[in-house]
Amino acid sequence: MAKKKKQSSNALEVQNAAKTLFANIRFMSPDAPIKSLVVTSSVPNEGKSTCSVELARAIATSGKTVLLVEADMRRRTLAGMLGVRPAAGAYSVLTDATPLNAAIAATTTPNLYFLDVEPNIPNPADIISSKRYHKLVKMLEDTYDYVVFDTPPVGTFVDAAILSTMVDGTILIVKPNSTKRAEVVDAYEQLKKADANVLGICATFCEGTGSEYYYAYYTSSGERVKAGDVAAASGRSAAADARGAASGRAAAASARGAAGSGAERGAGRVAASQAANRAGYARSEGRGGRAAR
Ligand SMILES: Nc1ncnc2c1ncn2[C@@H]1O[C@H](COP(=O)(O)OP(=O)(O)OP(=O)(O)O)[C@@H](O)[C@H]1O
Ligand SMILES: [Mg+2]
Repeated sequence: MAKKKKQSSNALEVQNAAKTLFANIRFMSPDAPIKSLVVTSSVPNEGKSTCSVELARAIATSGKTVLLVEADMRRRTLAGMLGVRPAAGAYSVLTDATPLNAAIAATTTPNLYFLDVEPNIPNPADIISSKRYHKLVKMLEDTYDYVVFDTPPVGTFVDAAILSTMVDGTILIVKPNSTKRAEVVDAYEQLKKADANVLGICATFCEGTGSEYYYAYYTSSGERVKAGDVAAASGRSAAADARGAASGRAAAASARGAAGSGAERGAGRVAASQAANRAGYARSEGRGGRAAR
């Protein structure tokens, strides 16, 4: 019973955190709304797919239509997380084998739709950089209020950096106390090199104590914005929190500064860990049978 209560309180914290994340995204650009988003991270297993699903649910429950796109062609997990089994995915849409509306699946959450991708795509980066994929992204943006792309880690594969150039904004997921600073800085710099609009950092795996949110936000000075602050937020302080989340750029820049003279040593370590991640990611494709097909 106590366990059940804890689980439901965690679920509520996750939902509240996702709602706050969505509010922050909206506050960031009220005049030119951010409609399409890439969710990525520097290394594997930082909670990208979980965050993509929760963000999409938060958008859907606000009454807006949202399409969640499986753009991690290397380790597909969204179909399993959503509990859907679409008959076709983006690849068959791109090759004109299936019309777009036949590939898009409704989910149990009203307003939340899903576009999967087929397993074992041999050349994901080439597919994502194709003119056809670009055209598909535009079409999806014109059809839904929001489009959220879940991607592989940008420090491991180039896919997210390519896709980030086609969308309005990119969220960099970071698992604090786990991911190395040099890896976060490297990922941020790769995104900036690609000319991505990095909206900010979303921290995952943060401790939840019932009154704290599952996700936390950090100000540019590195100060954690606690749940109570956000929950009590008026429009003004919520906007300030949005700026805090928006300070991903500043946070990454200061992380870069702090990396300082150790940058070269860090770069060597990052390159080695990226190569190991690439090998591991490929091996674990479709892990745990979480993907529906
Ligand atoms: N905020 C969180 N707090 C605690 N556990 C989490 C959180 N986010 C994700 N997880 C757990 O961590 C694991 C990895 O999550 P997820 O698949 O979302 O990560 P990912 O970054 O998409 O991984 P990949 O790099 O393989 O695509 C899952 O078991 C998930 O339930
Ligand atoms: Mg994932």
